[in-house]
Formats: sequence, C-alpha cells, structure tokens
Amino acid sequence: MRSRLLSIFVFLGIQGILFSQSIDDKVNALIDKMTIEEKIGQLSQQNAPGLDLELIRQGKIGSILNEPNVDNVNKLQRLAVEESRLGIPIIFARDVIHGFKTIFPIPLGQSATWNPKLVESGAQVAAMEARKNGTRWTFAPMIDVSNDPRWGRIAEGFGEDTYLTSVMGVSSVRGYQGKNIYGKNSLIACAKHFVAYGAGQGGRDYHTVTLPENEIRDKYLPPFKACLDEGAATVMSAFNEINGIPATANKKYLNDVLREEWGFGGFVVSDWASVEELETHGFSENQKEAAKSAFNAGCDMEMATWTYANYLEELIQEGVISTEKLDDAVGRILRIKFEMGLFDEPYTDPEAYPMEANTEYKALAKQSAQESLVLLKNKNNILPLENNFQKVAVIGPLANAPHEQLGTWVFDGDKNDSQTPLTALEEHFGIGNVEYAPGLEYSRANTEEHFSSAMVAATNSDVVILFIGEESILSGEAHSRADIGLPGKQTELIELLSKSGKPIIAVVMAGRPLTFEKEFEKLDAVIYAWHPGTMGGPAITDVLLGKYNPSGKLPITFPRHVGQIPIYYNEKSSGKPATNDTWIKMDDIPIHAVQYSIGNTNHYLDYGFKPWFPFGFGLSYTQFMYSDLALNDTVFSMTDSIQVKVQIKNIGEYDGEEVAQLYIRDLFGSRTRPVKELKRFKKVMIDHGASEIITFSIHPNELGFHDANNKYVTEPGEFKLGIGGNSDIELTTSFYIK
Ligand code: GLC
Repeated sequence: MRSRLLSIFVFLGIQGILFSQSIDDKVNALIDKMTIEEKIGQLSQQNAPGLDLELIRQGKIGSILNEPNVDNVNKLQRLAVEESRLGIPIIFARDVIHGFKTIFPIPLGQSATWNPKLVESGAQVAAMEARKNGTRWTFAPMIDVSNDPRWGRIAEGFGEDTYLTSVMGVSSVRGYQGKNIYGKNSLIACAKHFVAYGAGQGGRDYHTVTLPENEIRDKYLPPFKACLDEGAATVMSAFNEINGIPATANKKYLNDVLREEWGFGGFVVSDWASVEELETHGFSENQKEAAKSAFNAGCDMEMATWTYANYLEELIQEGVISTEKLDDAVGRILRIKFEMGLFDEPYTDPEAYPMEANTEYKALAKQSAQESLVLLKNKNNILPLENNFQKVAVIGPLANAPHEQLGTWVFDGDKNDSQTPLTALEEHFGIGNVEYAPGLEYSRANTEEHFSSAMVAATNSDVVILFIGEESILSGEAHSRADIGLPGKQTELIELLSKSGKPIIAVVMAGRPLTFEKEFEKLDAVIYAWHPGTMGGPAITDVLLGKYNPSGKLPITFPRHVGQIPIYYNEKSSGKPATNDTWIKMDDIPIHAVQYSIGNTNHYLDYGFKPWFPFGFGLSYTQFMYSDLALNDTVFSMTDSIQVKVQIKNIGEYDGEEVAQLYIRDLFGSRTRPVKELKRFKKVMIDHGASEIITFSIHPNELGFHDANNKYVTEPGEFKLGIGGNSDIELTTSFYIK
C-alpha cells in the first residue's frame, strides 16, 4: 500500500514539474523567439478607442483596456493571434469595480456589509459578466486604506481599517479569480494602488504622501500582502509619490518589498499615464528618464502612454536597462497569459456564459445592497414602517435617480436596469398612496422652485421618506470635496419639510461620509445607503418595511465636522487624550479666561474629540447584549493561541444579524500603539430572545507592529481586549504576552 501511495506521489510530482516546467519552458521558448520590439510590445497596454490596429499586427501591443464589446474584442484578438508574427494573445482589461452590468453597492458600501462571502459572490457575478463581454482582467480590488472622507476615491475602497480592507480585498480576489486563474470563469484581479494612495495630503486625489516606512508597513501594505497571498495575479502602481519618490518608480516598494520580500511572481502595471507623469512630478527630467526609472524600479507594463515603446530599446542599447530585466518583465506577463489559459482560449464565446443581469445576479445585488444599509437613527422606533402609514410622500433628488444610485466607476452598468426607491415604494404602497416630489432635481441644485410641491406632498401624507445625499459624480477619481456637507439646497429642503409636522425618514445615498449633524436633528430616522447599485430601490424598501432588519456597520468613521479630519478609531492616545470632562465647550469658556484655565487635552474647542459616528457603528431594529467575555488564559507565550469567546443575546423583538467586532489594545510598545485595533469580526444571525456563543482564535503574531527599525515584532506586555457592536466599546478584559 505504502509503495503504491509513494508511486502516486512521485507521478503527481513529475506531472507537477512537467506542468509548471511546461509553462516556464513555453515562456522561455517564446522569449527566445521574440525580437526586442515584440518584447517591448508585451509591456505596452493601450486604450481601445483610436488604437492603430497595425501595431497589433506588429506585435507591439500586449494588453488593451476599455473594449467592452465582445465582438470587437474577438476581432482585435484575431489580429494578434492570427496576423502577428508570433501570435501572442492580448489580455483585455477593464475597470470592473463593483459589477459589470449588474451593479453592486460601491465597495465602501459592500464593506459596510461586513460579509466577506457576499463580497466574494458579488465579485464572482462581476467576473462572469465581464468574461461574457471579453474582459479577462479587472483593475480591482482597490485596497487603498484611507481615513479621509474628503477623498473622492474613499467610495472605491473598503474604508479606514487595514484588517477589514484585507479581508474584503481577499474576498474580492477569490470571487474574481476563483481557485486559480485558469479557466473560463476567472477574471484576473489587480491589487491597487500600490501603495498608500489613500494617504494623500488633504484628501486631495493624486496628492503627496509623506509617511514613515513602519506606518506604511503597518497600515497600507498588509491588504496587498493578503491579496497577493490569495493569488492576485497583478498589481497596479499608484499615482502618488511616497516620501518624494513616485510610487510608479519606487524601487523600495515595487522591487524590494513586492519581489524580494514577498516573492511576488505576477506583473505590475502602471496607472493611467503614471509613467509619463514622473516628469510632471519633477522626478524624471524627461520621458526617456521616466521610462528608465519606472522600468528599472519594477513597473512591468505601461498603461495608456508610450514611453516604453518610444525609449526602452534605446535604453537597452545604451546598457541602461539590461536585457535580463527586459526578459524578466516580459516573462512575468507571458507566464500570466499562459497560466490564465489565454493561449489555449484567446477568444470569447458569450454564449458560454449566463445572461447578464439575470434573476440570480439581481438577487445577490439586492442582498448586498440590503446588508450594506446602515441604520444611524430610529427615533421612537418609527422604523420599520408597519402598516400604520397609508399615505407616503417620497421626496428628494435621489428618490428616483437610476443613474446616481449606481455610484462611481460604473462603465457598463445600465441605468435602465436600476430599480429606484420610488418604483419600489409605489409597488408596495400602491401608486395612489405615494405622492412623489423631488424637491430638488439633483443633489447640487441650488434653487427652491420645486420646494412648494414637496411641501404639498408632505402635507398630504402621513410620513415623509426623504432621499438625500450626493450624485454619483461627486465621489470617485479626482472628485474630492473640501466641504462634505449636503450639496445644493438640501439643508433648506429639510428645514422646510420639518415644518410640515410629519415624521421624516431620511435615506442618504453618497460615496463618502457626509457631515449633516444639524439637519440630522430634524430627522426621525436615518438610513445610510452609500450608492446601493442596480437593486437599491427594493433593498431600501425591504429595510424600511422591516422585511430585512438592517445589519450594516460603518467601515469608516463619520466626522462631526470636516475640520476634525483625520479622525479615526485606531488613533494614538497622545500624552493628553481628551475625555468628556476635559473638553470644555467653546461657549462655556469664561470671558477673559486665562491661558491654562481650560482642559489641556487633544480636543477641539468647538467640535470636541469624538466623531459623529464611530467606525463599526450601526443600529438594528432589535438590540444585542454582550456578556461572558472569556479568554482561555491570561498569560500567553508567543507560540500560544489566544481563544476568546463571548455570548450575544438578542434582547429585542426582531430577529437580526449582529457584527461582533473584536478589538485589542497593546498598552505600550517601543512605538506607541493605537488605542484600538480591529483583529476579528463575525456576522451572526440571532433570533429574537435567543443567544449565541461566538468564539475567536488569535495568534500573538497578529498583534505585532513594525518597530523603529521597520522590523515586525510582537512585544511582550499587557493587552486589553473587548468585543462589541462597534469600535466605541470598552476593552473590558486583559491578557499578557510574555
Ligand atoms: C485610473 C485609475 C485606475 C484605473 C485606471 C484605468 O486613472 O486610477 O484605478 O484602473 O485609470 O481606468
């Protein structure tokens, strides 16, 4: 028996070597045949519109982006495979960020589900629809950690926390690529933007990033490591500079970390024109220098510009770029093309895929939208809307905005597929019982000409359901805002409606946290819907009616005022942390107060030190009580496993899902540690009246950080730990690592 098993292992081992060797052999054999122009051609990714097709025939294009039509994809592919000298297929790419045709909530909204499996399913649907249309590679997941809601691309990531972003990024990669990248259902993932793009000064897009290396290693690199460990096949370099060296030419991160430390075997693509922009940064003297710096730093493929095509051959002839490095870069790209089956199946048969936007896909999009909704307020439990309201006024610029509800980064979604809140509410209450008045034609509208009809609708109804927030264009790339309040005359609209005497339930659609604390006081209930995608209407309506009990939790801190930014849960203590009794409100300060007469702590005189809503916050129609938090020991060695358990009881009237969040604090370290760090979470359904015991296991190695020498360490000492339904919980137990 043993000898038989042994022979099977040996056979499989040989097969494995043959298979892997066969890909390496194929790559090397192909490289040996390639001219230098053809090699450089593989490093060139160009935009489909306006592309000179002759370049494809000449083997000078390795990848094409933004060709969404499968017939055109096949036509272009035919030129490469059947008319170029070596027939190397092209990899077709597209930004499929939160759906291709069936649009899921924006990633920030999907993060608010705290449901990794659901994020994975959404990515699987996106992969199937993208593949049906000939797209083989998506520029996703965007895993840029950021705590700045002014940044337009906060919409596109998974929020402010490194751990949550890592989990959601891995789920996305798993959903896009599947178990391996070979096969008809796999969409090549791209971990972007490498690195620290979300740390741009002032929340301005593309802007300067100045951070110590250990902060980058603690906060911004882990999601990339997690996604690459999950098998993400490509990485995209970022637009920003990092401490004076633009990311696209940053050897430290593109080579030393990505290649040498992590052993990443896939390839790096630049961001759009980010190679060319090395000159604009004032980093490269000219475009030839830009090509040299980017390539030698480790950027394999150039997106949308031609510096590689124009200068690499010259640079190689001058000996500034080695032929070995060129072959390495080409080899990485060809290996992915072989591994993903592009040589075996270069063409797409759309009939081999399910219909787009089918019932199953829409049901998943609806579930994702439902679970993304965060209940921020529910005064007197006005929600869910039992049947005690007959006449409903549906008001606001986002009540019937099929384009806006899709959100940013939607290239192929069809707004005609959108099911809006208005249509869903009319279906439920009956058209005769719903009075619709937008009040404002769009979120930025600065006119009150439609206010009177909105007031009439409110007066004629029992309850107002108000849809406010941001149009989709106000978030996303290059769409940062310095003031993140409600745009246009929405504040005035709320003020007016509050005079109707009718209860107002607000649903906010936005690509970022907004600051509307004063308006909030006039609202009876508030649901944050982000931009919920194609199925936003039915999802929101089900939550309003109680068919789904909201379970969403904030993946990002909501500031009270934009002036508080950056404000986030995992901040440092400082030597003078503020507390409620050290913050004396500005209006309470005595006239002619002397310098040291008020609390010397790190607060704002006007806006204190607390956010509006903390990371991880979200209400439910029921209530959950945590008890019996226990660890398997109080002192742990570096090799022990820390077992944690807690009881959660649903003490309300509705069945519901709770996201139990486990936070720790390392009380002291050779570098100061955050006051809290999310280390685990679990979403669990608990029937009303029932209890659940949930358990977590953590390894001391997960409690470390990069010290002053950028070395990852878990330092012995005391830790605090707490589990609850948001980050503003007390860490009620402690343990020691010795
Ligand atoms: C954009 C974005 C990047 C995107 C690329 C292609 O500028 O920064 O995320 O994937 O260009 O559209």
